[in-house]
Formats: sequence, structure tokens, C-alpha cells
Amino acid sequence: MRPYYDHKGIKIYHGDCRDILPHLGIVDLILTDPPFNANKKYGSGTNDLMSWPAYCEWLCPIITQMEQMCSGPVMIFASVNGMLELCRIKRPKHICVWDKPLSFAPRLGNSTFMPHWEPCLIYGNIYGNQRGESGRQTYHISDVWHNNPAERNGHPCPKPLPLLKRIIRDIPAILILDPFMGSGTTLVAAKQLNSRAIGIEIEERYCEIAAIRLSQEVLDFGDQLPPQLEQADLYADEEPLPISGEP
Ligand SMILES: C[S@@+](CC[C@H](N)C(=O)[O-])C[C@H]1O[C@@H](n2cnc3c(N)ncnc32)[C@H](O)[C@@H]1O
Repeated sequence: MRPYYDHKGIKIYHGDCRDILPHLGIVDLILTDPPFNANKKYGSGTNDLMSWPAYCEWLCPIITQMEQMCSGPVMIFASVNGMLELCRIKRPKHICVWDKPLSFAPRLGNSTFMPHWEPCLIYGNIYGNQRGESGRQTYHISDVWHNNPAERNGHPCPKPLPLLKRIIRDIPAILILDPFMGSGTTLVAAKQLNSRAIGIEIEERYCEIAAIRLSQEVLDFGDQLPPQLEQADLYADEEPLPISGEP
């Protein structure tokens, strides 16, 4: 398997994570943000408007695969709707909350409630690998994170870099994996915190954005992309999402 990008401990694979994951070894942390089944237009490789049973049938085996290859937590962002569906099929061990007050997330169908938070479902090992002399776990991480949404960067829905940095900073991990890498925010966060990381992305144009972001780091352009990679409006294509059981 030839990586699309491989530099200073950060690797990107271009392809379907279902094909690539079986070839990777054990990692310490999986932090990822799969498609939310929210009708985003990522590209031809992703159907982001399935029935909820089809979505769970697609994602749950990938979660199981991730659990088998991770010695630490497997942290998976989801929509509120997706969380409700996934929990019925595959119960997480914990749920963290990303509180994002300035977000303009779509409403859940015709629901009164407009989510200003996003769940992060936690599978895998939540008990820590590092233990002090007392045998107790040596690190703890809060399960509520306050961060505004990300700036535009050419991807339809990037995660904010400060959010992913604070998660990675709190969880000791030498090697981090993001199988739904998008524009590579997890990898940029890992790199800035001197961790190794692997990203997988099915759309080549997002691999390219991630590779540019990772190279820009050397020149210290921060998290800004060149203007040609910016897009007009992150939420321009949002419509209320379907919700199962809605009257
Ligand atoms: C929600 S986005 C991730 C955004 C990312 N957190 C960021 O900060 O840019 C999900 C990504 O998963 C990719 N994707 C969808 N199906 C995939 C698959 N089977 N294997 C790998 N990547 C996939 C999509 O192209 C999309 O870029």
C-alpha cells in the first residue's frame, strides 16, 4: 500500500477506509468524524443520504474494525440524529459533548430543537493504558468541550483545529488514526502536538488539501489555506434533516 503523503510520522492513504484499515497495525487513539448522513456533497465516493438502517449497517462494522485495532479510545463524532440511531445498534461506552454555540447546524426534521452541540461516541478502551504506582489511571479528560465551529478550508465540514488539539493533548497517544480524514484536521493537530498520525480519505481533493495544510505547517501559515481553496459558504447547502419516527 503506497501512501499518498508520508512525511515526518504523518501518513495519508487515499482510498476507502474499509479496504485500508485491515492492512494497518495497532494504533493508540482513533479520533474521527465520519459522514453524518446529512446530505453533504463530499464527492462520488460517499452516499451521505442513506436510510438510517443502511447508515448503521455501513458504519457499525467499521466501528468494530476500529475497536479491534486500537489500544485506547475510539472517538467518533456523530449528529444527534446519528447518535440516536447508532446507539440502538452499537452502544458506546461513553458520549462526549462538543458544545458549539456559534454553529448553524440544520434542524432535525421539523423538530423545534436546533442542535448547538455535537455528540462524540466513545468506543474502545476508555480505561487508559497508563497507570501510576497506585494502579490508577494517570489521565482524565473532560467530556464537555466548548469550541466554535471551524473556519472554511475547502472541505464542506472541517472540524476546528483547537477542538481536536485539546482532545489529543489530553489523551497520551503516540500513533493516532483518522479513517475519515477529510481535510486532515486530526493530522494537523497530531503533528502540532508531536504525535504520529495516519489519515484515510476516499476523495483525492481532500487528500490534497490535507497535504497542503501539513506542508504549510513548516512555513507557519497556521491553519489558513490559500484563498483558492476557500469556499463561499460552509452551510449554504443545509436543509432540515430527515429524522426517523417523525410525524
Ligand atoms: C465529516 S468529513 C471529515 C472532516 C474532517 N474532520 C475535517 O476536519 O476536515 C468525512 C469525510 O469522510 C470521507 N469518507 C466518506 N466515506 C469514506 C470511506 N469509506 N473511507 C474514507 N473516507 C471516507 C468523506 O469524503 C469526508 O471527507
